[in-house]
Amino acid sequence: MIIMKNVYKSFNGNQVLKGLNLEIPNGEIFVLLGKSGSGKSVILKHLMGLMKPDKGEVLIDKDDMSKLYGPKLYEKLMDVGMIFQMGALFDSMTVAQNVGFYLKEHRMRGGKKIQHSDINKFVSESLEKVGLKGTEALYPGSLSGGMRKRASIARCVVYKPKYLFYDEPTTGLDPITSQTIAKLIVEQQNELKGTTLVVSHDIVTTLAIADRIALIEDGRIEIIASPREFMKHKHPTISVFNEMIGGDLSLIGKLRNG
Ligand SMILES: Nc1ncnc2c1ncn2[C@@H]1O[C@H](COP(=O)(O)OP(=O)(O)O)[C@@H](O)[C@H]1O
Ligand SMILES: [Mg+2]
Repeated sequence: MIIMKNVYKSFNGNQVLKGLNLEIPNGEIFVLLGKSGSGKSVILKHLMGLMKPDKGEVLIDKDDMSKLYGPKLYEKLMDVGMIFQMGALFDSMTVAQNVGFYLKEHRMRGGKKIQHSDINKFVSESLEKVGLKGTEALYPGSLSGGMRKRASIARCVVYKPKYLFYDEPTTGLDPITSQTIAKLIVEQQNELKGTTLVVSHDIVTTLAIADRIALIEDGRIEIIASPREFMKHKHPTISVFNEMIGGDLSLIGKLRNG
């Protein structure tokens, strides 16, 4: 369970989070929607303990990420996988080296100790799961945008984290590739049965995958609701979303429910 309680964060007088409250129960695909610059990445960095709040609590399963540093934080982060917006693959490493990176560092998978000799096997399995079978020896530079995204998903799911965070997973991808990545997000949630948090401004894929949607505006969560209830809200931003999809609510749950 993720709980952010009364979180404040400012940068040189720019107040980004203004008493933000958010609760995400386990087992969901939860999508946080918000405009560019609304603080979505800042929230993810707080959940990873990489940024500390000026005030407030950031709990993941009772551990306050705002109070964890060094080895204690790294240990906790084995429960958490983050797929960064730009993929953040190491360009000088092969796909297999990238995907095996955290496994090699931590030698832990789903909370269990693993043997070094099993790493290659887990890497190949993980690549197969994301549709990148046989790409072990390639370098990220030779992959398409969608393939890079898949590889960065493989690099997280390979160590079976309880929490998977995606920072704008479909931004910069064409609509078809976006759909395949969205499908992959659902598949990984169904397999890991943990909790998935996606931050996005892409309403089409959000409606297709989300169990619940939250809207962040002006430093706080304005609305949390099921996709259907969310789209009914009389809120200027939600009106824009409704216009973008031409009122087509058949998108809801399209990828989530089989
Ligand atoms: N490390 C930082 N230093 C100063 N300002 C920052 C930093 N990180 C984020 N911000 C500011 O916080 C606001 C929210 O940023 P961000 O969370 O990246 O937005 P987004 O919702 O697009 O992900 C922006 O105004 C951004 O400039
Ligand atoms: Mg961002």
